[in-house]
Amino acid sequence: MPFSSESDLQRWLDSATEAALSAGAVLQHYWGNLTTIDEKGRSGDLVTEADRSAERAVMAVLERHLPADHDILAEESGVIRGREAGLLWAIDPLDGTTNYTHQYPFCAVSIGLLAEGEPVLGVVYDPIRHELFRAAQGLGATLNRRPIAVSTTDQLAQSLLVTGFAYDRRETPDNNYAEFCHFTHLTQGVRRGGAAAIDLAYVACGRLDGYWERGLSPWDVAAGVAIVREAGGQVTAYDGAPLDVMSGRLLATNGHLHSAMSQTLGKIRPLVLPDLP
Ligand code: IPD
Ligand code: CA
Ligand code: CA
Repeated sequence: MPFSSESDLQRWLDSATEAALSAGAVLQHYWGNLTTIDEKGRSGDLVTEADRSAERAVMAVLERHLPADHDILAEESGVIRGREAGLLWAIDPLDGTTNYTHQYPFCAVSIGLLAEGEPVLGVVYDPIRHELFRAAQGLGATLNRRPIAVSTTDQLAQSLLVTGFAYDRRETPDNNYAEFCHFTHLTQGVRRGGAAAIDLAYVACGRLDGYWERGLSPWDVAAGVAIVREAGGQVTAYDGAPLDVMSGRLLATNGHLHSAMSQTLGKIRPLVLPDLP
């Protein structure tokens, strides 16, 4: 691993927390007070002054605290530093922009650290509910500084799941609609939160039992994956193979439901998408 000790991780966790709280204050400031909402090319993929200003707030803190050889990938500015030292920060200054523009209170700042591609640290801050989810490898997962753990639900029929639909859903048959319908039949319900980072954080603290989605970016999931794993959950590719956060697709569960969800996803895909890999 490209870091030497747990104390490195603890220090970086504290810096990421400071950055997330600072960006959270920006999001609170613009809540209900937006003057610019733009589309980023793809229909429905929005960006606002709150996204951009929150990203500047994250960067100001991280640049003050982090070693110069850490790489940074931030959603609104792209790669800000890239030295390929093995440590990459993946930053989403506002996850849930669509919710935010409607004042639907489900959004977060998400700051994750990947060590050679593996999520090892995450901070997800919901500035509306004032909920701060944090974790680092070997240090446990917390919500507002109290330890959290995944749920114990072990039957799909008793589970509450969550998923999402990517911005390319109108252009691809791989739009997740069939999977959504199928799991809706099998479970107590499937939610569509609209903020991947919070969806993962809710699996980590046991409010939800499982989450799957495609079309995701590394900044959507880096932090949340670290938090789910430290809370005792499991995160893989749909088929149970090791997760590649760059693949855009993941299955996160409390562990007990992992193989049932993976098998279900494996059965549905070839039915609806016979020509896709
Ligand atoms: C989006 C949210 C949403 C997910 C999309 C993401 P954004 O992030 O996480 O839940 O379904 O795929 O792009 O655009 O609000 O930062
Ligand atoms: Ca996002
Ligand atoms: Ca975003």
